[in-house]
Amino acid sequence: MIVFAVETSCDETSVCIIRENKKILSHVTYSQKDHIKFGGVIPELASRAHLQILQRISKKAILESGINNEDIDVVTATCGPGLIGCLLVGSTFAKSFSIGLNKPFVPINHLEGHLLSTTYNNNVTYPFISFLLTGGHTQIYLVKSINNYELLGETCDDAIGEAFDKIAKLLDLPYPGGPEIEKIAKNGDEKKFILPAPLSNKKDLNFSFSGIKTSINLIVKKNNKINSEFKSDMSASFQYTVTKILESKLRTVMNFLDNKKISVSNIALVGGVAANKYINGRIKKIVENFNCSLVSPPDFMLGDNAAMIGWACLQKNSTKVKSNLLFKANPRLSILGDNK
Ligand code: KG4
Ligand code: ZN
Repeated sequence: MIVFAVETSCDETSVCIIRENKKILSHVTYSQKDHIKFGGVIPELASRAHLQILQRISKKAILESGINNEDIDVVTATCGPGLIGCLLVGSTFAKSFSIGLNKPFVPINHLEGHLLSTTYNNNVTYPFISFLLTGGHTQIYLVKSINNYELLGETCDDAIGEAFDKIAKLLDLPYPGGPEIEKIAKNGDEKKFILPAPLSNKKDLNFSFSGIKTSINLIVKKNNKINSEFKSDMSASFQYTVTKILESKLRTVMNFLDNKKISVSNIALVGGVAANKYINGRIKKIVENFNCSLVSPPDFMLGDNAAMIGWACLQKNSTKVKSNLLFKANPRLSILGDNK
């Protein structure tokens, strides 16, 4: 089976051609640059850019893969959650392509793409725990099997990646903020600023990141020396605090599993923020203390990409392909089967 996958839920335009045996025949991702000057994604600009880029990179992906259009067996696209204009462009393009080819169309949930990305390169055993850390979501799932997910906790306000991006903006660092903060935090003192770690001592699995942003905003406003030393120290302190929150939620989740007599061997970090080596390194130590192993997708499947959508489609349709051309793109699509 050869799958043609499209991902356009936010500001990455991505196409991937992937075979059933996991072999990626081509994968073209275009990260839209226009948003850099605005310090965040402008939804209307993002959907217009998808319109301009998608056809071009689709031709490129087919050329690079060495296959012909007729060799494609299934067309799939992210149908939510995400920015509605962006989702409409990608899903309508993919549906039209599937009609033209007379091949099935399979809608995929973006979060499911992230959650299953880690099974691409790891021999995970179900159930496993997954920390989904992106620019739009911060959630902890118990992944019981493909199609069977239990949401254990999530953020009450900002997503973790959003917090990285907003702090970067306060520090006048470029968008996206995550990689920049990680880079300059290496030269900073992580104990320089004592920042609040909301909900970290609460025995539930929810997060809150907006208080840290407010606190940093106040410090930035009071300080008239926003030089590179300040930026590095603040980045390091922020990254340290966020990691402390993740560590405490990891301990809480292990405790929860213990009480419920659920045994897991793998803890996964998925999504754009999972690219952060500092977070990964610190979480790994705790995971190993619980005799589990930390798993993450390959680097090219961390940020938004079509390969994870194609891979999720293959896993969900391994026995029978269920076409669904009438599936509507939904900005709030859930993976818990409770969509209205
Ligand atoms: O998964 P993703 O590409 O898109 C969403 O589904 O939202 O995640 C994007 C987020 C951005 O907020 C970006 O700043 C963050 O991932 N990110 C990072 C790093 N690389 C990307 N955050 C922290 N450290 C990084 N190295
Ligand atoms: Zn994503």
